[in-house]
Amino acid sequence: MSLKEAAERVAGEFEFDGEGVRKAVKEFLKEMDDGLQKDGTYMSQIPTYVTAVPNGTEKGLYMAVDLGGTNFRVCSINLHGDTTFSLTQSKTKIPKELMTAPTAQELFAFLAKQIEGFLKEHHNEHYEGHIRRHKHKTPNANPATDETEIFNLGFTFSFPVNQIGINRGLLMRWTKGFDIADAVGKDVCALLQTEIDRLHLPVRVAALVNDTVGTLMARSYTSPGKTGTLLGAIFGTGTNGAYVEKLSNVTKLTSNKEADGTYDNSTGEMIVNTEWGSFDNGLEVLPNTPYDVDLDKESVNPGIQMFEKRVSGMFLGEILRRAIVGLLKDKSVSLFGDSDSSVNDLHTTTNIAKDSALFKQWGLDTSFLSLASGDNSAGLKIIRQSLSKELSISSSSLEDAEAVKLIAAAVGRRAARLAAVAIGATVVQSGRLNSMEGKEGGELDERDVVDVGVDGSLVEFYPDFEAMMRGALREVPEIGEAGEKRIRIGIAKDGSGVGAALIALVASKELKVVEE
Ligand code: GLC
Repeated sequence: MSLKEAAERVAGEFEFDGEGVRKAVKEFLKEMDDGLQKDGTYMSQIPTYVTAVPNGTEKGLYMAVDLGGTNFRVCSINLHGDTTFSLTQSKTKIPKELMTAPTAQELFAFLAKQIEGFLKEHHNEHYEGHIRRHKHKTPNANPATDETEIFNLGFTFSFPVNQIGINRGLLMRWTKGFDIADAVGKDVCALLQTEIDRLHLPVRVAALVNDTVGTLMARSYTSPGKTGTLLGAIFGTGTNGAYVEKLSNVTKLTSNKEADGTYDNSTGEMIVNTEWGSFDNGLEVLPNTPYDVDLDKESVNPGIQMFEKRVSGMFLGEILRRAIVGLLKDKSVSLFGDSDSSVNDLHTTTNIAKDSALFKQWGLDTSFLSLASGDNSAGLKIIRQSLSKELSISSSSLEDAEAVKLIAAAVGRRAARLAAVAIGATVVQSGRLNSMEGKEGGELDERDVVDVGVDGSLVEFYPDFEAMMRGALREVPEIGEAGEKRIRIGIAKDGSGVGAALIALVASKELKVVEE
């Protein structure tokens, strides 16, 4: 067998055809429905208590922090009230050891410290004034102005949380490499507020927001269409979506008498955080290669987030790494000059350094996948250079690089087609394609657009991610060619920050009403 044929065989394992897409959409709709009815299902379908999307006229200065899978961002956002905003931000990489720290306090103290640094750098007068008053214990001469001295902060916390109020939520489980047992079951807003107060910062955690909800809000603020945005989705380190659901469908909430009156139900809608990363944890319809199986087995959370493990940035590089190692183990072909087919040891070629990241879990970053799939340079120079740089493979042939590119593209294509399952099923669930307000056949009427806001490194940087998603969307019978055209997908840049600010705005108004 030639190397090309062997690579095609591996790439073929990642095939996810139209039939697969259709079956998965059906299962997705079923699991969405399960999650709306009861707790403890694969997809959590978490009610967010947010019952309306913004329309672009919202105004004010707010703070937001975003604890994602990789970075911690602190920002202040000025909403201008005319669909535009300005944003100041700082970003820090979250130290790996804090992701699995023995106690939650260590992580949250680090977060508060970053907020302090940000305030000193960008809002020092605010900060100093507050500290001065605190030291001298001066009562505020005019309490009315004090309100403006305290920043209302939206806390984007991108993990599954059982939300019990607009700024209260209990961590259900960690995802994306975090694992701090001590935090599970605790109110993450209170954890953050405690550390903020320890540093006497003029900040009140006013709202708890999942990044997908933030993305949905931000998209709605910046591009208010005639019908508002339907879905906010993240395809980054992790993957998830939040969408506008009919309140009457969220039966686990509406049948719960205690929850009555804790939200404004006048819109008849509520934003639901799907936590679709856990779609099909039972593996009924998801493709499952030996690489997927091993990746899951050796992850910090085996058996959960099965959809996320096939779609998102944290995992795609690792899938590719395992597939390349698989090819290296194939004794009938030679990859990277590995010609000794009789030896089991993988380090049979002097071209691969013994300590190459190729042999280490998480050794290959997903950015390599984007780079490899998009390399159209002569002689695939870019791939070969980064094989040397990232994986310490001192020399690779054009055939080697072609094999790597083929497999990388297959892993990425499968991810994009799976992403289409989630988007497609949500659009079908909404029923928004069933009505056609504008004239059929002619130019697309703004009222017939189904708007989707997306964010995350994968949609942003993976070559042709959207085009591949669209290909799969057309294969869903309830969508088809005509429906696919009506789905507008737009990047909601900085979505989670702006979105968190927008929810902090709503929440601070509610808090004021309660205080008065
Ligand atoms: C993970 C989290 C989810 C988040 C997503 C994207 O799936 O569980 O809450 O929205 O990552 O960051």
